[in-house]
Amino acid sequence: MFWWRKEVKKDAPTILITGGLGFIFSHVTEYYVKKGWNVVVVDNLSEGSNPQIIDGSFKHINAHMAQLEVVERIIREEPDYIIHAAAITDVDYSIREPRRTFEKNIRGEIHAFEAARNLSKLKKIMYVSTDEIYGECEHPMREDEMLAPRSPYASSKAAGSLMRTAYENTYPTLSGRMAEIRPCNIFGPRQDSAKILARIKKSLHTGEPVPLHNDGLGYREFLYVKNMPSAVDLVLEKGDGIYNIGVGHGSTVAELIRKVESITGKKISTTPSHRSGMDLKYQTDTSRIHALGWTPAYSFEEGLREYFTLPE
Ligand SMILES: NC(=O)c1ccc[n+]([C@@H]2O[C@H](COP(=O)([O-])OP(=O)(O)OC[C@H]3O[C@@H](n4cnc5c(N)ncnc54)[C@H](O)[C@@H]3O)[C@@H](O)[C@H]2O)c1
Repeated sequence: MFWWRKEVKKDAPTILITGGLGFIFSHVTEYYVKKGWNVVVVDNLSEGSNPQIIDGSFKHINAHMAQLEVVERIIREEPDYIIHAAAITDVDYSIREPRRTFEKNIRGEIHAFEAARNLSKLKKIMYVSTDEIYGECEHPMREDEMLAPRSPYASSKAAGSLMRTAYENTYPTLSGRMAEIRPCNIFGPRQDSAKILARIKKSLHTGEPVPLHNDGLGYREFLYVKNMPSAVDLVLEKGDGIYNIGVGHGSTVAELIRKVESITGKKISTTPSHRSGMDLKYQTDTSRIHALGWTPAYSFEEGLREYFTLPE
């Protein structure tokens, strides 16, 4: 089924966002609609999607990125920009279903890059990767350091990062027109409740215990979702190459829970859980995105306070 935008603005760029109904990129979709651009979203309404944002202000194409036909569908839209964000994003699901995760994510990446390769007027394609592709880290990882993904999810995303390099290096039409971002853990409104901060928020309302993987010792960096559209926009406009996205604020999940308890004044119940092969620490060097001129509007504290005071 299609939802058609009312009119195409001839003097405004067209941006096509795969996964544009998901947690992070629904905010990016709305950002570009507000900016006055023509927005086309390719999203198959699967896990993590927010169909409630479909309001006629952008065009929605309900298509699966893993199916070959999608390449033609994207080319027909003649976008000036593409953001490829659609993916299976649940690490635990990827551990239960590695074949499905690899097949869907990797095919989706190939199809996004193939569409870009066949769009001679494309200004830029952005591939959305993740800090998890660096694997377990001893120090904040720079963008030019080795990838060592260790979960099916992270490997499926790293495959896209490697393919992006191959496409950009091999096809002159794509040279200088491919960007990549590697965000840390993002939290905020519309996040699927399988993810840690959304789970904590849900638990505050339901009392349902939060499964604490590997004693809550996993160290992650966290960024409020409302900081993402400006980072994405800056990289699309001025970026060159790969950018880690984060503010360098990290904590263990156990510390995070204590922080939320102190903000909300409520006790959060937890239950022990085990994630096979879990990386204990992800951290990235974010100096490149800051040097490009990105200033996040929300600090970690401000984001956390806003998120935990918003209604469900
Ligand atoms: N959430 C995070 O903390 C985080 C951190 C770093 C990177 N990322 C990356 O950012 C992107 C978005 O993450 P998110 O957490 O917002 O995801 P999400 O799970 O909330 O949303 C994913 C969206 O993509 C759609 N989708 C999934 N597979 C599809 C397919 N094959 N064809 C068409 N649509 C499909 C879903 O319907 C959904 O709307 C992903 O690429 C993810 O790897 C996320």
